[in-house]
Amino acid sequence: MSIMPKKPDLKINIGALKLQNPVMTASGTFGYAREFDHLVDLNRIGGIIVKGLSLMAARGNPPPRIVETACGMINAIGLENVGIEAFITEKLSFLQELVPPIIVNIYGKFEDEYTRLAARVDEVEAISAIEVNISCPNVKAGGMAFGVDPQAAFGVIKAVRAQTSKPLIVKLSPNVTDITEIATAVEEAGADCISLINTITAMAIDIDTRRPKIANIIGGLSGPAIKPVALRMVWQVARISKIPIIGIGGIMTAEDALEFLIAGASAVQVGTANFVNPHATIDIIDGIEAFLVEKGIASVKEIVGTLET
Ligand SMILES: Cc1cc2nc3c(=O)[nH]c(=O)nc-3n(C[C@H](O)[C@H](O)[C@H](O)COP(=O)(O)O)c2cc1C
Repeated sequence: MSIMPKKPDLKINIGALKLQNPVMTASGTFGYAREFDHLVDLNRIGGIIVKGLSLMAARGNPPPRIVETACGMINAIGLENVGIEAFITEKLSFLQELVPPIIVNIYGKFEDEYTRLAARVDEVEAISAIEVNISCPNVKAGGMAFGVDPQAAFGVIKAVRAQTSKPLIVKLSPNVTDITEIATAVEEAGADCISLINTITAMAIDIDTRRPKIANIIGGLSGPAIKPVALRMVWQVARISKIPIIGIGGIMTAEDALEFLIAGASAVQVGTANFVNPHATIDIIDGIEAFLVEKGIASVKEIVGTLET
């Protein structure tokens, strides 16, 4: 029998990516991290995933682009960002001094944009891993998202894989009929890890003006409202996948995070919760540790994928 150390071990490895604990920030909800520096001890976070980056700076969609809904929010920010080069020259010097690994989230409208981004990121030592957002419209396929078609998802990830030896996390869209089909496609294309879920397409209407509450009409739903859907998808993917999984969707508390770990996720990302409680990531880390102490569990690894059915 192993002797229980005083503090449980929170460390998790996702392939070559080593995390001091399994709690990361979700892309687009934590800026470039510096925005949260005065609110959170950034060095305690497991991994920092920055805002989705494109080849060129992007202004995003016109306002209004955020609306609160029951137990969540809809956003249509439209992936506003400074662009990869400005990120590397202006944002990275602050980030690379931090303890957590820096993970860059990339997106494009063409396969070629993804591969050029991956090749550029591959040259930058301070970036520990790449997360590929495949929820974006594929212009060549009439605007259908890469991530809703197994062949398109396979194609873009195979091409990205050829450009980088960094750990490759592929972030799945939940707006599909069978999430396991897409997970299998990206795993076969060479992904090292799957993160899920991105936002669920949604809308809201102002009944007085009869206008959509966001200018883009359709946006993405996030927050506690999507947690049960996300948990179901994580569990479905965990059952068929041989690579590690990162659970995302409505995680507000340590209990929420623990549900995802038990369902089969090796780590989690915290998104919308950062807007409600900027300290959410740290509260969740402390809560997971307290749970392990209470249950007498020596390492967080011991609870991953332990759902009893
Ligand atoms: C305001 C906002 C901006 C987002 N921007 C991105 C992004 O740039 N890239 C990306 O892959 N996901 C983006 N997401 C999706 C989140 O990373 C996350 O997958 C989703 O919100 C579900 O998690 P949550 O319920 O904890 O927020 C964004 C979400 C929100 C709310």
